[in-house]
Amino acid sequence: MKFSTMKPIVQLIVGSTRPGRVGPSIASWAKTIADKQFPELDFEIVDLADYPLPLPTFETQPPKNAAGVYTQPETQRFSAKVATASAFLFLTPQYNWSFSAVLKNAIDHLCVEWNDKPAGIITWAMRESDRAAVGLLPILECLRMPVARPLVAINAGFTVRDEKFGLRDPATDFVGYEPTLIEAVGQIAALLKEKSS
Ligand SMILES: Cc1cc2nc3c(=O)[nH]c(=O)nc-3n(C[C@H](O)[C@H](O)[C@H](O)COP(=O)(O)O)c2cc1C
Repeated sequence: MKFSTMKPIVQLIVGSTRPGRVGPSIASWAKTIADKQFPELDFEIVDLADYPLPLPTFETQPPKNAAGVYTQPETQRFSAKVATASAFLFLTPQYNWSFSAVLKNAIDHLCVEWNDKPAGIITWAMRESDRAAVGLLPILECLRMPVARPLVAINAGFTVRDEKFGLRDPATDFVGYEPTLIEAVGQIAALLKEKSS
């Protein structure tokens, strides 16, 4: 019998694209911890800034892409990338008490690529960021994605910022969030194991 040596891929979908964003720093902090704790999984950062997706229109996109067939090259490229993942960590800033429009647009571009795959949520804001996760939860539920708990809701206020408003030192400043992140990714790992057995 032949066994596959491929590890399941967990993509970290970075949902902020504005200049000066801290999203990539948070993704790299989370990936470092996940790589160390879960060597049986392959964590990959997918930055939505590298996948500029237009707002869909009825002329260019069917309203629901349940068949996974797309006419636009940008969507085809994004679909091909997301389809390789077995699970996701959605990373989003809190903008006006919700998650980012860029992330919603990216999610809405696809359908089957997300369906039934486990997901975790990492949010951040200047204060509590749990409202971003509350907004995202029903969307993932609609796509039949089991969402790992706990949610990782980071407070990235002035005390963790440098002079350019980037993050000063996530490895030190976010150490208190590590157990929460590990527990959430542990749930994803367990769900993937269950699925493969
Ligand atoms: C449009 C907009 C809305 C925001 N709304 C909130 C908010 O509701 N609560 C909060 O604490 N911070 C809010 N912020 C601050 C952001 O959460 C903070 O700047 C964070 O670093 C944004 O993530 P990013 O740097 O990856 O874009 C907002 C920022 C922007 C640009």
